[in-house]
Parts: sequence; C-alpha cells; structure tokens
Amino acid sequence: MTEPTPTSSSLDPWWHTFFDNTYAEYGLANDDEETIRKIVDFLVEALELAEGTTLFDQCCGIGRLALPFAERGVRVIGVDRVAGYIKHASEQAQQRRLPAEFHCDDAFAFVAPRPCDAAINWFTSFGYVEDDSINMQMIQRAFESLRPGGRFALDYLNMPRVFADFRPSIIDRPKSPALEGLIVLNENRPDFARGMLDSDWTFIHPDGRRETRQCSTRMYMPHEIVAMLHRCGFADVKLYGSIKGEPLDLTSRRCIAVARKPP
Ligand SMILES: C[S@@+](CC[C@H](N)C(=O)[O-])C[C@H]1O[C@@H](n2cnc3c(N)ncnc32)[C@H](O)[C@@H]1O
Repeated sequence: MTEPTPTSSSLDPWWHTFFDNTYAEYGLANDDEETIRKIVDFLVEALELAEGTTLFDQCCGIGRLALPFAERGVRVIGVDRVAGYIKHASEQAQQRRLPAEFHCDDAFAFVAPRPCDAAINWFTSFGYVEDDSINMQMIQRAFESLRPGGRFALDYLNMPRVFADFRPSIIDRPKSPALEGLIVLNENRPDFARGMLDSDWTFIHPDGRRETRQCSTRMYMPHEIVAMLHRCGFADVKLYGSIKGEPLDLTSRRCIAVARKPP
C-alpha cells in the first residue's frame, strides 16, 4: 500500500489522518480468512446477496470485505476517502479479475453510480462527529445508492455494552506474525456533554517507536441508530448483536442494524 497523500492541518477532522498504513496493517489487514468468511456469510444472508447482485461498500477501506464479496460473484462498488486504500483495493481487484470498482471520494457526498441491491457501512465507519445531521448524511447517501427494496447493514459499537463493561484502557498485542512485537494501547474517555467517546490509540512498535493518534465516535444508543435510519427513509429495521445473527442485548459487542429501502 502507498501512504495516503498527507492533507493534515490542525483544522482537519480526526479521520483525515487516523486512517493511514499503520492503522490499515493493524485494523484492516490483520483478519484471518475464517473471520472474513463468517462476516461475508452473515451479510450474504441478511442482505439477500447472490452472484450477479450489486453491493455498495461505503467506507470500504482496503477492500477487506469488498474483495471477498467480489470473489463470490457479487459486483461491488466501494468508496473510501483514503487514496492509498483505494489504490490497494483497485489493484487487487484488477490482478484477481474481480467484478469490483473502487472510488476515492467522501462518503458524506458519494452516491453509487448505479442503483445497488444492497449496501454496507461496516466496522464503525460512521458517527464520527457530534452533529447528528452530518452523520445522517452518510446514511442518506447509502439510501440514495440503493434500488427500491434494497437492504442496508450498518455495523456500530454497542454502546450499552461499552458502558456496562467500561475499560478506560486496553492493551492489545496482536497475534498475527506480520505484527509481531507491536503493542497497541487504547485509552478511552466518554465525554457526556458532547456525546462523544474519545480515544487515544498509541502504537508502540517493536523498535520502540511510539505514535499516538486520537479518534472520536458518537455515543449512539441502538434506538438512536434505528431512529436515524427511519428518518432517512429506511423501514423494517432489525438489530443484531453479532454476525452470528442473535438479537442485540447488553452483552453484544456490536450493534448491527439491517434495514430495507421501501419497495
Ligand atoms: C474502521 S475502517 C473500516 C473499513 C471497512 N469498512 C472494513 O470493514 O474493513 C473505517 C474506514 O472509513 C473510511 N472513512 C471514514 N470517513 C470517511 C468519509 N467521510 N468518506 C470516505 N471514507 C471514510 C476510512 O478511511 C476507513 O477506511
């Protein structure tokens, strides 16, 4: 992967600098095939995807899910704002002759060039600002990218569980051989007045180098996600607690909302 072009200034929102190669290697390229297969299996069923159908992958990253979907014959349209991630995904699709196209663009504005059968916004790629009307623009763009009757899956943190089991700091030592020796320290602070969960991520590299970056996600309770989906026009919203498909409850780590654009 090539490094994204630096665009950083003190006015940049956090996600303009947070998602770089270090994050991708740790957060996106690190899953084993079995984990990815289970996510794709869940989504194929929940979104009624089959060979030849079209999936819009909003905030697709490096194509962690888009490429395996395309391997199953699903036509994928992916968008992400990080040029290096899109380059990587496009090159992979080309080399493997997969039915996938990738666009480097802002998901607050980008609408798929053709109506899609389904859409995903996966792995907390949403809810990055305090202003709900701005966050909702992303859901609205997913809605506009779908054909009537198309389905959308939004995968978010399950905030009730985050707070039931609040951990102000978490240390992760990733097991994959590619990341041997890396330590990732996560320090989390809820800001109740702003409604944001602020986190510092410190990467401690095997050579002792440390880099810290901040991110922030809106503390959306599940019912607020349901309400936003409805406000954007979605119907039949169902909540799941994991890719096993069980209903959401206090113990669920994820809040997965699956909704339908009315026919
Ligand atoms: C946590 S990663 C998840 C990536 C992917 N959905 C996955 O599951 O592998 C979040 C992604 O959202 C992208 N992103 C965040 N805000 C964006 C925006 N406004 N427009 C396009 N992409 C965005 C980031 O660049 C990053 O690749």
